[in-house]
Amino acid sequence: MMVTIILALFATTLIQGMVCGAVYDYGAYDSTRDNFRPGTFPDDFIWSTATASYQIEGAWNVDGKGESIWDRFSHTPGKVDRGDTGDVACDSYNKYREDVQLMKAMGLKYYRFSLSWPRIFPDGTVAGGVNQAGVDYYNNVIDELLANGITPMVTLYHWDLPQALQDRYGGWVNETLVDHFNDYADFVFQTFGDRVRYWITFNEPWAVCVVGYGLGFHAPGIQDSGNSTYLCGHTLLKAHARAWHSYDQNFRRDQGGQVSITLSSGWTEPFDPDLPADVVAADRSLQFQMGWFAHPIYTSEGDYPPAMKDIILRKSLAQGFQESRLPKFTPAEIANISGTYDFFGLNHYSSGIVKDKVLTGQYPVFWTDQDLKSTVAPEWPQAASSWLYSVPWGIRRLLHYIKQHYNDPDIYITENGWSEEEADPPILEETGRLCFYMGYINEVLKAIDLDGVKVRAYTAWSLMDNFEWAEGYTERFGLHCVNFTDPNRPRTPKQSAGFYKDVIANNGFPEGAEVTAMVRSRWEECRGGPGGSNPSQRRALSSLLPSHRDVQLSDNMYNMYNM
Ligand code: NOJ
Repeated sequence: MMVTIILALFATTLIQGMVCGAVYDYGAYDSTRDNFRPGTFPDDFIWSTATASYQIEGAWNVDGKGESIWDRFSHTPGKVDRGDTGDVACDSYNKYREDVQLMKAMGLKYYRFSLSWPRIFPDGTVAGGVNQAGVDYYNNVIDELLANGITPMVTLYHWDLPQALQDRYGGWVNETLVDHFNDYADFVFQTFGDRVRYWITFNEPWAVCVVGYGLGFHAPGIQDSGNSTYLCGHTLLKAHARAWHSYDQNFRRDQGGQVSITLSSGWTEPFDPDLPADVVAADRSLQFQMGWFAHPIYTSEGDYPPAMKDIILRKSLAQGFQESRLPKFTPAEIANISGTYDFFGLNHYSSGIVKDKVLTGQYPVFWTDQDLKSTVAPEWPQAASSWLYSVPWGIRRLLHYIKQHYNDPDIYITENGWSEEEADPPILEETGRLCFYMGYINEVLKAIDLDGVKVRAYTAWSLMDNFEWAEGYTERFGLHCVNFTDPNRPRTPKQSAGFYKDVIANNGFPEGAEVTAMVRSRWEECRGGPGGSNPSQRRALSSLLPSHRDVQLSDNMYNMYNM
């Protein structure tokens, strides 16, 4: 009898996996995982760096700009480390010409930056009037880039919502914002679209909704995980689709550009790849990060991922709700959202290891909805950011997963990078960041060459140190160091800027190139092999590429979420 029950449970889990189309071949690639692969990227490959308006511009109340939710949030005591704000940040409002020269010196041909909505529409609405000084600023940035041979890639929303829309409507939980976002999008397509060909509607809807409307660690600081989180996602999907259709109908013919969204996702490995429940849980974790937005947009059936719909409905009913806390799309909305992309924008940084675990709770919580525990391998090197570990092969697996599950799209990696702690004197020779970029960029090459993934662009986050949200200036992601205590905010290239420049100049790692020899000579050190000179790095990196079967996991190592 017992055996029958166990077999039945096992079969159910397997079937769930198959129904979701979820089972990923975790055994693939192991033979090439550890090796450096020399070679070059496709001729038209795009090398880029990125920033975002609130993180670099400063000038928060200058020349008619309206207040954003991040202005309000960072001015509220206790919300950001040390009380740091983006009031001045990198002062790119005044120093954008210098920024363009930094890019030029690295040989960059693309730059991803974002527009501050309240700099253009101070109260977020067209009715409230346009701020011409804001429009002039972005015209100047775009013209400066083009004059220097750099193609702009523009994000419409990188988290700095006009505060007026938060105050008036409660922000992204209110569907009225779909109209306002569309008015704003229409205006910027109209105004800048003669020169901008690459558009991203939203940066990381997951972070907007989970961290801003669930955990409350980011602006607007709402703590309502499990309700507002999903409402926010619902609005963002509709707003994205609406703006995509606007471009498609009104601008595409004349402007010939592309519009998509940037999704964030870590890679997840099952704790025990031989245990179907862990395999399904690893996939479920991806569905709650990437699939939440990718399934409605990038699959022909559209709508939220079945794994998400099923589990949230089940949990909601058990908690006494009449219906699922995950809102429902009508069939017309599903059809309207499906296919609203021209490429897949991906922000990827880290990986995790996931174990199936039934979590019960009386209250709605995004995390307990997922029925899993997540942790990391103890050997993965950790960045200054608590959630960021270096796992280069994770990006290759994620890229392959996107190819398989989302219609083999053109993929633009719109962010990838590594943080170090703020230090005095600043760290300009960085082992961790160099190893990170070597490993990750090489894995992207493998994804293209060995797996046939259509990766078109790689973007390093970030051009320079900047305001790292709730962590203020304590975590540094820049290829250039910025001195935030100097009113002139001087920028200094780090070693990684030189490395990236060499990669760009060689379009990768061709045999015979100096950069290739350099990567070869440091590869073992970065992996913690016998050539390693830095003991802590060697220890940390010794299992950079472990077989996940060897990972030791003890109860006290479980973190709820570390990705
Ligand atoms: C994702 C966000 O888009 C960006 O704003 C942030 O600074 C980086 N990740 C690093 O956390």
